Amino acid sequence: MAIRKVGSAFIGAGIVAEMHGRAIKRNPTSRLVGVYDQKIAASKAIAKKFGGKAYRSIDEILDDPKVELVHVLVPMVFHQDVVIKCLEAGKHVLVEKPVAQEVSELKALKAAAEKAGKVCMPAHNYIYTPSIMRAKRLIDEGKLGDICGLWIFFNIFHDEKIAARYGSVLRETTVHHIYSMLYLLGRPQTITAMKSYIHYKKLEVEDQAAVMCQMPNGAIVNLWCSFALNDPTNDPWTVLYKVLGTKGGVSYSWNEAQYEDNGGPGGGLTCYEDGFAGEVDYMVNQCILADMQPLSTLDDAIDALKIVETAERIVDSGRGSLKLKF
Ligand SMILES: NC(=O)c1ccc[n+]([C@@H]2O[C@H](COP(=O)([O-])OP(=O)(O)OC[C@H]3O[C@@H](n4cnc5c(N)ncnc54)[C@H](O)[C@@H]3O)[C@@H](O)[C@H]2O)c1
Repeated sequence: MAIRKVGSAFIGAGIVAEMHGRAIKRNPTSRLVGVYDQKIAASKAIAKKFGGKAYRSIDEILDDPKVELVHVLVPMVFHQDVVIKCLEAGKHVLVEKPVAQEVSELKALKAAAEKAGKVCMPAHNYIYTPSIMRAKRLIDEGKLGDICGLWIFFNIFHDEKIAARYGSVLRETTVHHIYSMLYLLGRPQTITAMKSYIHYKKLEVEDQAAVMCQMPNGAIVNLWCSFALNDPTNDPWTVLYKVLGTKGGVSYSWNEAQYEDNGGPGGGLTCYEDGFAGEVDYMVNQCILADMQPLSTLDDAIDALKIVETAERIVDSGRGSLKLKF
């Protein structure tokens, strides 16, 4: 019997499109029908590598019945308009993180998805790996006992040119940590935060952010994110998750399998690629073909953004820290 393959199209053919292309290539139930980017050469390059054609416009994608799922891979400022267009045209949507700048925009996307009866899944890729899904199961089954602490570290150098595409480390990348915490442990009760400005010469955004949260049972969560450095030590914290409870723990490191690759920051880190493969597989096989909810939903994106905004308010007000004098 022929396997049913869900047809996907990409809007946006930049760095992250490469990762989505690799994920589709690995997935027996999806295929790339085509790509649209405002730069036609970029569309052609991704289509040549991963399949399908270069579309000339977004409307051409929306009119194509072979496209069931649209991957929205343009910068965040364009997400809102593009995602709503896709949903209204009857397409499912996988939209890159951070999904939106404002909570009100996320609520509008949720309403549009509900109205259309389509799935709009935030591309919260870090949790769609077997190791993180196993950690969640062990936590939920009580195998780790009472959870005492969660640590998520990220140390991947981004030069100023690459970092300029993204802006705030807190909004752009610490959001991975935050939706991971929401998935693994639920909603925190209290929060504190710090940022630092260390290696950029021109960019006026932070290159490091740290957020600490306390969960209702007292567990303390440490979220650390740096674009300022790579960790060159013998036990590198490139991306590291550790959860410890009274009866057990889980440790998961992106350093466990690597190869040389020029695909930009994160390229060659197999666990990073596995997250994209896992999210595409989940979207296609669980959400579209089996009518399930994503593991991390637009409601999680809303709460993640509320945590980011609270962290920003703490840093801006200076109320989360006391100055020391020696
Ligand atoms: N999940 C992750 O780990 C991860 C990693 C990197 C980036 N991202 C996210 O993916 C999105 C894209 O990031 P990127 O690194 O690929 O950026 P990028 O700048 O490399 O690529 C963006 C592409 O979108 C195109 N584009 C911009 N505006 C457009 C428009 N209105 N219509 C059509 N094409 C348009 C540009 O020409 C460019 O090719 C961002 O939201 C970013 O935050 C996620």
